[in-house]
Amino acid sequence: MPANPYLQVSGLCKHYGEGEARVSVLHDVSCAVGAGEICVLLGPSGSGKSTFLNLVGGLEAADAGSITVGGTELTALTPKQLGEYRRDKLGFVFQFYNLVPDLTIRENIEVTAHLSANPLAIDNLLRSLGLYEHRAKFPRQVSGGQQQRCAIGRALVKNPGLLLCDEPTGALDYQTSKEILELMETVNRDFGCTIVIVTHNDAIKHMAHRVLRLRDGQLVENVANAERMRARDLTW
Ligand SMILES: Nc1ncnc2c1ncn2[C@@H]1O[C@H](COP(=O)(O)OP(=O)(O)OP(=O)(O)O)[C@@H](O)[C@H]1O
Ligand SMILES: [Mg+2]
Repeated sequence: MPANPYLQVSGLCKHYGEGEARVSVLHDVSCAVGAGEICVLLGPSGSGKSTFLNLVGGLEAADAGSITVGGTELTALTPKQLGEYRRDKLGFVFQFYNLVPDLTIRENIEVTAHLSANPLAIDNLLRSLGLYEHRAKFPRQVSGGQQQRCAIGRALVKNPGLLLCDEPTGALDYQTSKEILELMETVNRDFGCTIVIVTHNDAIKHMAHRVLRLRDGQLVENVANAERMRARDLTW
């Protein structure tokens, strides 16, 4: 257990479907991620990683168990409060970016800044993301890696306590994946946000403070790394 948990999950259960179609997706998952830590969540396809992230992100409701983020117990929130939690405390990065095609790179980030009470300065953020020169382009005019940087910027501009990333490098080549991971490392260091990265790629675990692994909806590994590697030194 981390000394100062920011995310705490206890006895989490989730199923989909009913009767013969019923699939149990998460069984009794309990874990915690310390404030300011990077957590890498591994597991084969179908093991429940995205489901876990969606529950922690307040996008879906659990059957049983509790999820506490920065002292707030999600299961106790009304739908309105859950919306505020997502808006104020959470950044979510999707595998396929989900940018708005008719907005420029800067505008895609600006949209979320407007929703936030305490947004970061957009131009500084664009510079840290290496997107300042591309700010007036539309998503289709930039590379996949730049689109993913923009999606990360959109999540970060809110200055969230928790950044959840579902396969953030899943659609990217080796070099670009490493750049995105280096960016996550920088963001963790400079903004202090707690980060959960879901991935299939075992090599990424070496940059984490904590490694979790799901298999068939059960947590089969939960370890703190004694030593971490820098993202730029990872190889696979
Ligand atoms: N909305 C849904 N309705 C029914 N079953 C679902 C639903 N969402 C997910 N599942 C099932 O739950 C299980 C876990 O899915 P999940 O998306 O969490 O896996 P994952 O670990 O993220 O896999 P991947 O690595 O392929 O993204 C799978 O068997 C999936 O088919
Ligand atoms: Mg998934």
